[in-house]
Amino acid sequence: MDKKVCDLLIIRNIKLNHDNYLLELESDELLGTIVPGQFVNVLVPDAPSTFLRRPFSIHETNISNNRFSILVKVVGEGTRKLGLLQPGNHLNVIFPLGNGFSRPKNYEKILLIGGGVGIAPMMHMARESKELGAEIHILLGARTDKDHILIEDFSKHGPVYLTTNDGSLGVHGFVTHHPVFSADHHFNRIYCCGPDPMTHAVAAKAAQLDIDCEVSLENMMACGFGVCLCCVTSTTSGNQCVCTEGPVFNTKQLKWQI
Ligand SMILES: Cc1cc2nc3c(=O)[nH]c(=O)nc-3n(C[C@H](O)[C@H](O)[C@H](O)COP(=O)(O)OP(=O)(O)OC[C@H]3O[C@@H](n4cnc5c(N)ncnc54)[C@H](O)[C@@H]3O)c2cc1C
Ligand code: FES
Repeated sequence: MDKKVCDLLIIRNIKLNHDNYLLELESDELLGTIVPGQFVNVLVPDAPSTFLRRPFSIHETNISNNRFSILVKVVGEGTRKLGLLQPGNHLNVIFPLGNGFSRPKNYEKILLIGGGVGIAPMMHMARESKELGAEIHILLGARTDKDHILIEDFSKHGPVYLTTNDGSLGVHGFVTHHPVFSADHHFNRIYCCGPDPMTHAVAAKAAQLDIDCEVSLENMMACGFGVCLCCVTSTTSGNQCVCTEGPVFNTKQLKWQI
């Protein structure tokens, strides 16, 4: 799939809560195919201290308008600058990068799990999987009720289950504590994105229940296209770059899972 380097127009920048922003970007060229789970590498404008591009999952696409969105959680200088951008500003972006999730079949029942800002790629995945005819269930984990965002948008695609670490919303605990994992559900596949401890716990749960599981890894990245080797992960096929061979891996491929 061809990668593009484009100056994209910022159509909207919506502050969703204390530290999350939803940026809608528009290209003046056709976007082409974007697979759920792919990501972009963004040059942060006017930020000399963040000269390396920053990777973000593609949150949702609107191919007919040549638009897609990214969800940005502020954790440092680069993401803080992105939160300040205004409609009419431009953002230099390389996209689409990485492999993306596999497509479910139309009869499959799937569970999408997002932890923290790991919910980002799951909106595109939920919509496209539903369009393919799959039955979608969505499990979102966050630290507190105030960290849960976009619940209403997710619920357009299927039932949404929530957990919080402090019990302020949904089930008290981590996503793997949610009763949706009970045997009644019989999911065909789990797709997951979030912090490492969460993806590890979900992978272990999926193995225990004998459910196929794909995780999107968020290793530190620099170039985003396989040159700097700073993003490697150990797999059954040797060390692989998360930016080119991933970010999505079947957990059976990952050495930490075996
Ligand atoms: C494939 C991929 C997809 C991603 N998708 C999203 C997304 O959709 N939305 C989103 O908000 N973030 C996402 N991230 C993480 C995002 O790229 C980082 O948060 C961002 O680069 C931090 O930039 P900064 O300049 O604000 O922070 P920095 O000043 O560079 O770092 C601030 C803090 O954040 C930590 N940090 C930096 N990068 C990462 C990372 N990759 N993973 C975990 N911690 C990190 C640093 O260790 C440091 O503690 C993704 C990362 C990858 C690799
Ligand atoms: S980020 Fe450079 S090789 Fe993956």
